[in-house]
Amino acid sequence: MTNNLDSNTSIKDHYSYPSWEKLKSLALSWDENLTNLFAKDPKRAEKYSLSVGQIFLDFSKNHIDEDIFEALCEIANDAKLPAWIQALYSGDLVNNTEHRPALHTALRTPELCPSEKQAEVKAALEKVETLVNEVHTGQWLGHTGKAITDVVNIGIGGSDLGPRMVVTALKAFKNKSLEVHFAANIDGADLADQLEALNPETTLFVIASKSFSTLETRENALAARRWLLNFGCKHEQLQHHFVAVSSNISAAIEFGIAENNILPMWSWVGGRYSLWSAIGLPIAFALGFDNFRRLLDGAAVMDRHFHDAPLKENMPAVLALLTFWYSSTQGYESQAILPYAQRLNRLPAYLQQLDMESLGKRVNHNGNPLDYNSGLILWGTEGTNGQHSFHQLLHQGTRKVLVDFIASIKPMSGLDSHHHYLSANCIGQSQALLAGKSFEQAYEELLESGKTEDEARKIAPHKVIPGNRPSNTLLLEQLTPESLGSLIALYEHKVYCLGVLWDLNPFDQWGVELGKQLGMKIYPALTSGECPDSWDSSTRSLIAKLGATGK
Ligand code: F6P
Repeated sequence: MTNNLDSNTSIKDHYSYPSWEKLKSLALSWDENLTNLFAKDPKRAEKYSLSVGQIFLDFSKNHIDEDIFEALCEIANDAKLPAWIQALYSGDLVNNTEHRPALHTALRTPELCPSEKQAEVKAALEKVETLVNEVHTGQWLGHTGKAITDVVNIGIGGSDLGPRMVVTALKAFKNKSLEVHFAANIDGADLADQLEALNPETTLFVIASKSFSTLETRENALAARRWLLNFGCKHEQLQHHFVAVSSNISAAIEFGIAENNILPMWSWVGGRYSLWSAIGLPIAFALGFDNFRRLLDGAAVMDRHFHDAPLKENMPAVLALLTFWYSSTQGYESQAILPYAQRLNRLPAYLQQLDMESLGKRVNHNGNPLDYNSGLILWGTEGTNGQHSFHQLLHQGTRKVLVDFIASIKPMSGLDSHHHYLSANCIGQSQALLAGKSFEQAYEELLESGKTEDEARKIAPHKVIPGNRPSNTLLLEQLTPESLGSLIALYEHKVYCLGVLWDLNPFDQWGVELGKQLGMKIYPALTSGECPDSWDSSTRSLIAKLGATGK
């Protein structure tokens, strides 16, 4: 019988887990069709769904049955996932290559984490609250004595993507007296476009950089400083316009930021897990401190669930096990994130860093090459825009793509009929992936539309949609700080689980270093026009072309 999932490829991944052979044989003998699974079990949707706080997950449209689900949970136990979860919260050195804990949970669920972090976290949050209140109430003044009207967050990667995504998503909770902007790229157009519309008298810059050594952030911060000085702000007045968030206090002071204006970051919080720390300052500026607090509370709901729930009911673990299943037994390499909520349009970009910077690894915890695939390629955009773009490939392409649909039950605008169309399209897409369209259906449709039998036979194959393609659907009661906090924490913990299942460290990112280092060597070659002969001819020719136009 044909294996519906993977008729052409054999399983190439290899794991030493005792349950792996069992899972593999279940995968090889699997011949069920999703439509049949639903027909056989009217309670399937109920059986394969979970609720945590304001989040509901329907994972029934997946190629699993009780045996497979059971075997996946056995794999999780073989990988000692429950112990790893406890290790995360206990502050064990789960980031083994940098000898650090990863205690982002301590920022929102301190009661589950080591008590010595609590005072530091509390003090940092108090500093965020004070600063935000000073700006919101007009007590913080620019160098000419005017209240601040605009904040520009200068940071990149984890010091940009999370705060930017949250501020965009929670527009409905925005503080009306302050505009928050973001500049990340080393392309000067990014900062220049922001500055164009801003007044140096009333603009506050947040220099957000855990390391305070990131090229993009340093150059944008220097440009912001020049902008203020050119306007007439004196050196000693710059403190009215700069605050920093960093774990490198001395570098921030050296840059010229008053010590009192520096908020802490810690080595035990990874950059891409840091929006809950003072790196979330732009969130608190944009939405008010109370809403920032609500975001943390939402994450805490997911943290407690992840900490306490048994594997089968553990939402992050279940999502991770599903990804593990498809990746390791059916060759899936791609994951689409499709939020059917306009204001979650930055979510895919945020999750790209969270997921791909964490899981894009080629060796295990001990440094040995992996015998299996690790992180998937994650991408996506907001629905329904994606439907008019890449959904064609999801429905009829030959590539295998995992899909997470995300929708809000309550609308975010007063346009109710829009919301029903939006929701209908979200459900329609997952139903189309599941059910597809057979040759017979396509043929009949063509006849009904007036085509001859001959024409219908020729066109029908092009209209066949195979279906039987999996998806998850996540529903938020409403897009609120609480539900968003839970959603982000859900994906953070899913990534952690995959790190455990794939036996890799999801908290380092050594792979990003080489390109940056080479860029630093190429910069002088570009500006001087002098290039070592030992460099390859492509690099030398590109330097000659870009160097010439850059002068
Ligand atoms: O590009 C890698 C990276 O280190 C990310 O992990 C990090 O979020 C980003 O750069 C920014 O780093 P920093 O906050 O230290 O400026």
